[in-house]
Amino acid sequence: MNFNLSEEHVMIQQAARDFAQNELLPEVIERDTHQTFPAAQVKKMGEMGFLGMMVDPKYGGAGMDSISYVLAMEEIAKVDASAAVVMSVNNSLVCAGLEKYCNEDQKMKYLVPLASGEVIGAFALSEPEAGSDATSQKTTAVDMGDHYLLNGTKNWITNGGTASYYIVIAQTDPEKKHKGINAFIVERGWEGFEIGPKEDKLGIRGSDTHSLLFTDVKVPKENRIGDDGFGFNFAMGVLNGGRIGIASQALGIASGAYELALKYAKERKAFGTEIINHQAIAFKLADMATQITAARMLCLKAASEKDQGKDISESGAMAKLYSSQVAMDTTIEAVQIHGGYGYVKEYHVERMMRDAKITQIYEGTSEIQKIVISRSIAKK
Ligand code: CAA
Repeated sequence: MNFNLSEEHVMIQQAARDFAQNELLPEVIERDTHQTFPAAQVKKMGEMGFLGMMVDPKYGGAGMDSISYVLAMEEIAKVDASAAVVMSVNNSLVCAGLEKYCNEDQKMKYLVPLASGEVIGAFALSEPEAGSDATSQKTTAVDMGDHYLLNGTKNWITNGGTASYYIVIAQTDPEKKHKGINAFIVERGWEGFEIGPKEDKLGIRGSDTHSLLFTDVKVPKENRIGDDGFGFNFAMGVLNGGRIGIASQALGIASGAYELALKYAKERKAFGTEIINHQAIAFKLADMATQITAARMLCLKAASEKDQGKDISESGAMAKLYSSQVAMDTTIEAVQIHGGYGYVKEYHVERMMRDAKITQIYEGTSEIQKIVISRSIAKK
């Protein structure tokens, strides 16, 4: 087994690192404070190919592999976890879903602008009463012959206020339970489609999270993804890949906080020496470095399996479960190592601690990841 990155992978990693340092870092604290969406930076990410990284160039993508995606996501999330989630949702939940499951017409119309970064997309599954229990969709899509009539509310939708196209999951035939669920591509601006107020969040405050309200929205039949009743399986398939994106985001938050804590520990003096010379601090850093390395291996393993076309439900869930725990643990310790400085915005780690929490909640809570993993291992 060769753990070395290829020359191309190193180049992509370096490009993402430079972009994060030069374009994301300068105003990241202001964006967090004022909940400002990084519009100019996201546009640049599109130009760099970071919004459709794994999509075939014939559909506007950059044609890279999933390893490249993990490497770039880590670098972006190290500096700005909000920009990273915009990137993750557009790549993993929107573009990957469209490329894998849509017909040619849908790809040409929607995937091309999304993968090239001309516009961004959103994925609307969660509802006020259906987060973890994703089969309990209350949003309805009634079959009217040549179109569906969409009614309902979606909650906590990343890119909710900025997207141009939305993948919306809805129930068409409740009697069929998950086999009665469909997925649709819905355009911003369609009559009856309203975007709710922006959520005031604990973390990832630069990302744009809204509820979506649908009142008798006419969705043309050609905007349904796959066969009738395919929507739940579509969502599950997409989320398997999405978990690699969020795992990489969590990994980036952890490694960003670790790098800052290490630097601080080498500079800050207490009791006559740099604090890294005190075992109380050095051991924390040793734990962080070990856990981050393990999380990175899980992310890269899941990505490698995805590139090989293997079933990634288990490896993606493991990567997300572990990396999000490492993000939480590492950021808490990074604040502790910084002492009083860690508690103020200027030193970044308090933001990272707030940003880390969501990685244990969205795209399936940690408990959901354990359901996915335990079901998979029970089958073996
Ligand atoms: N991969 C592929 N298929 C899967 C799957 C997986 N991981 N998990 C379930 N399925 C399939 C099953 O095979 C079954 O299909 P068939 O009937 O065709 O065989 C179907 O889905 C139903 O399966 P279950 O009976 O196991 O379903 P369940 O009701 O027990 O739920 C669950 C399974 C894993 C808990 C699922 O509900 C789930 O993943 N919930 C979490 C949803 C989630 O992640 N929400 C996040 C929203 S998106 C988001 O957060 C985006 C953002 O803003 C960043």
